Amino acid sequence: MFSLGKLKLRSNLFLSPLAGYTNLPFRLVIREIGGVDLCTTDLVNARSLLEKNPKAIKLIETNEADSPLSVQLFGGVPEEMRDAAAYLESVGMSSVDVNMGCPVPKVTKTGGGASMMTELPKTQALIRAMTDAISIPVTAKMRLGWDEKNLTAPDLAKALQDAGVAAIFVHGRTRAQGFDGTVNLDGIRKVVEAVDSIPVIGNGDVTTVEAARVMIEKTGCAGVSVGRGAFYNPWIFSHISDYLKTGKTPPEPTFEERIRVLRRHYELMVEVFGEDRGSVTFRKVAPWYAKRFGPVKPFNQAIVRINSPTDFEHVLGEYLEWRKQFTDDDGELLPSYQLSPMIASFMQEEDEHRKTQRKIISVPKGPIEVW
Ligand SMILES: Cc1cc2nc3c(=O)[nH]c(=O)nc-3n(C[C@H](O)[C@H](O)[C@H](O)COP(=O)(O)O)c2cc1C
Repeated sequence: MFSLGKLKLRSNLFLSPLAGYTNLPFRLVIREIGGVDLCTTDLVNARSLLEKNPKAIKLIETNEADSPLSVQLFGGVPEEMRDAAAYLESVGMSSVDVNMGCPVPKVTKTGGGASMMTELPKTQALIRAMTDAISIPVTAKMRLGWDEKNLTAPDLAKALQDAGVAAIFVHGRTRAQGFDGTVNLDGIRKVVEAVDSIPVIGNGDVTTVEAARVMIEKTGCAGVSVGRGAFYNPWIFSHISDYLKTGKTPPEPTFEERIRVLRRHYELMVEVFGEDRGSVTFRKVAPWYAKRFGPVKPFNQAIVRINSPTDFEHVLGEYLEWRKQFTDDDGELLPSYQLSPMIASFMQEEDEHRKTQRKIISVPKGPIEVW
């Protein structure tokens, strides 16, 4: 049992918000595999939510199987953040998360996102207005600070603890770093040490079970939140959970299992978004699964043109045939095509002997590349 304020959770592993990706179908896929309990939506503009903007309402779409759910809000106007939080409580959400880490100018210029890390008293007052207004937990998601010279996360975490937040999620990089460089475990540890009555959840580059263990051991964090690692590997939560209990590294999912989950994800996309939008949205999701398929070029070229379940099955069928030339009788890749394991940035030293195989975790391209 993990306590997030009054909310009891079955896991200390969390799905990080990933704008454009952590929609209902993705969350359901992750939950069906298991190992995770509280998942978070993409960030939602508090004002748009209050105005019942259809896009904002779609972002908080959920169902019974998608519980417990936290909605991530952003915005710099205390009254709007408070009222949006009250609305989320009234529609049955389990928790509200506040975005304090987003470096995108569109978000920071509203006084939200990473700019909140620079104005402690103002941010504390905004959060206090929210925690006073609702009884579900309010959590905060931050980076280590604005830049190397302003590592404000420990002070901010302490101020937010005093304002009543139930947990802090911290990505171990600064706003200035973007997604470059190494996740700073020492920086996360300083946030852990700054608070005494609430859990701190570490985040950044966790792509393997060992990385989760090392993050917990070196920072003392109470749990781990995974974003991009869940793209490559929606099994990651269940694997980390098993590994932390048994110390044994679970085997990689078979190719067959990867295809089963790929199909299930697409099916849910069509269910939630309809054939057209579901297919178009899935075009950018499928290549993430494909990163662990081995040779994949024709699949990636064809999947970005699908418009319907018939197209999807056709592309998949052709790919499965084509891929046979690289596999053994069980459908597993022949040794020369096998992929090197993923290694988190902060595991580089521990894996010095495997340095040549180190694979930097990619960031999705497109309008969200500034995250
Ligand atoms: C495409 C993308 C979208 C993101 N969207 C959000 C967001 O909406 N809210 C947020 O707090 N963080 C967002 N992040 C940051 C992640 O939640 C997470 O902190 C970061 O990716 C580091 O964790 P990871 O290495 O496990 O992905 C986003 C990151 C990416 C790559």
